[in-house]
Amino acid sequence: MKAARSLLITLLCSIALVSAAPLDLQDRDIAHLEARAAKADPDTVVINKGKTHAGAAYFITNEPKGNYVVVADLMTNGKITYSRAVATRGRGAHGITTPNGPDPLFSQGAIKASTTGNILATVNAGSNTVSVFSIDPKDPVNIQQIGQPVGSGGEFPMSLAINKDGNTVCVLNGGSVNGVNCFSVDKTLGLMPKANTLRSLNLNQTTPATGPAGSASHVIFSEDGASLIASIKGTPTAQGYLAIWDVASDGSLSQNFRTITPAAGGNLPFSLTNIPGKNALFATDASIGFDIFDISTLKTANAASLASGRNSANAIKGQMATCWSSFSSQTGNFYVTDIGTSTVTEIKVDDNLKPTIVKQYPQRKGAATIDNDVVTLNKKDFLYVLAPNSTSVEVVQLNGSGKASNVGHFSFAKVAKRVGVTVSAENLQGMTTFPKQQ
Ligand SMILES: *[C@@H]1O[C@H](CO)[C@@H](O)[C@H](O)[C@H]1NC(C)=O
Ligand SMILES: *[C@@H]1O[C@H](CO)[C@@H](O)[C@H](O)[C@H]1NC(C)=O
Ligand SMILES: *[C@@H]1O[C@H](CO)[C@@H](O)[C@H](O)[C@H]1NC(C)=O
Repeated sequence: MKAARSLLITLLCSIALVSAAPLDLQDRDIAHLEARAAKADPDTVVINKGKTHAGAAYFITNEPKGNYVVVADLMTNGKITYSRAVATRGRGAHGITTPNGPDPLFSQGAIKASTTGNILATVNAGSNTVSVFSIDPKDPVNIQQIGQPVGSGGEFPMSLAINKDGNTVCVLNGGSVNGVNCFSVDKTLGLMPKANTLRSLNLNQTTPATGPAGSASHVIFSEDGASLIASIKGTPTAQGYLAIWDVASDGSLSQNFRTITPAAGGNLPFSLTNIPGKNALFATDASIGFDIFDISTLKTANAASLASGRNSANAIKGQMATCWSSFSSQTGNFYVTDIGTSTVTEIKVDDNLKPTIVKQYPQRKGAATIDNDVVTLNKKDFLYVLAPNSTSVEVVQLNGSGKASNVGHFSFAKVAKRVGVTVSAENLQGMTTFPKQQ
């Protein structure tokens, strides 16, 4: 058996040397060849050599000994096969929390893809760096690091935003040196410092960050690109808030940020998702459910009129920690995940920013649903949810408002073990997607 196999491999290798004829490889032979390839190039560990079917999903291992991007190939029916793991050349980290568990960075946006820039950026919280990759738009499982990881300008980088044009990456640092910092993306050199964007939040924090209470959460650009917004969770004695910088036409940030606090009842603003066409934000809030922020009047209004405006803090009954969100353009609804109840909740926000809970979809108990993203594959929307406690990705098809249904759960524990990539429930983080371009 063993002899037959090594003979086969010798044969395969010699054939490969002399011709590019297609080969009918057995699973175990592929595994063997891939293990060899992995040794030759430890930066990319190939799990499955196939090209992208309909799109790709990416998340990070965030391991302290070496951070990897796990790349999944997505089918038109939403199903996943794992494609490869690519070293970021940086290290992961886990925030200080009791008990130690999933959601190590207390954040959304630890990894972020852009279809306009064809790039993928990720934080390396344990080495205070940011890595950027190019994405092949016709084969998005194929990513290549551009340049070297660059210093984040602070400590414990935890979240990233990419502008609409896909040529600027801003990072949120949440450690003892905290705040935001932006880079322009050079297609051959990688991330280049952008002048007048290094701005402090003046949080009294530690490195690694202590949380979840009192930690930074997420950074995004407003829909019109005129603001860069970071969310900060509150503590029992100090309410959480959003920090908002103006973005000038050259990409520089205002020296100071304005703050807006959640409506009464909200305290832990976490993920931020733009409400399309409204100059308003949907924010998960681990203390109650979710908050709505109307930022359209922010530049002129004083705090009092903001409080009486269309801002609201809204309860999700039975929630434990609602922290991650995304929006589906096909259903027009928001989808949030709760790490404590492992539930997806679908929420509609009307033209007056008044929300309604449409439906709840329990996922597997104890899966600890965290980061999620929506992608359109062959005109259908799918929600990809990282479920670190079951080392899997849960896939939910969004057929219409109130009509989500689970496609399946796709464990990566076995494939990671097979190729020697460390994954652990408490360190995994992030979820971002990229539909294959025609
Ligand atoms: C910062 O936080 C630490 C730990 O909670 C506390 O002991 C210290 O007084 C705080 N410093 C300031 C300036 O608030
Ligand atoms: C993760 O799994 C462990 C072991 O099954 C369980 O005790 C823990 O409650 C789970 N954590 C979450 C956040 O669901
Ligand atoms: C959603 O669409 C899929 C595929 O067409 C189907 O299997 C599933 O039953 C649908 N679910 C709902 C709730 O409509």
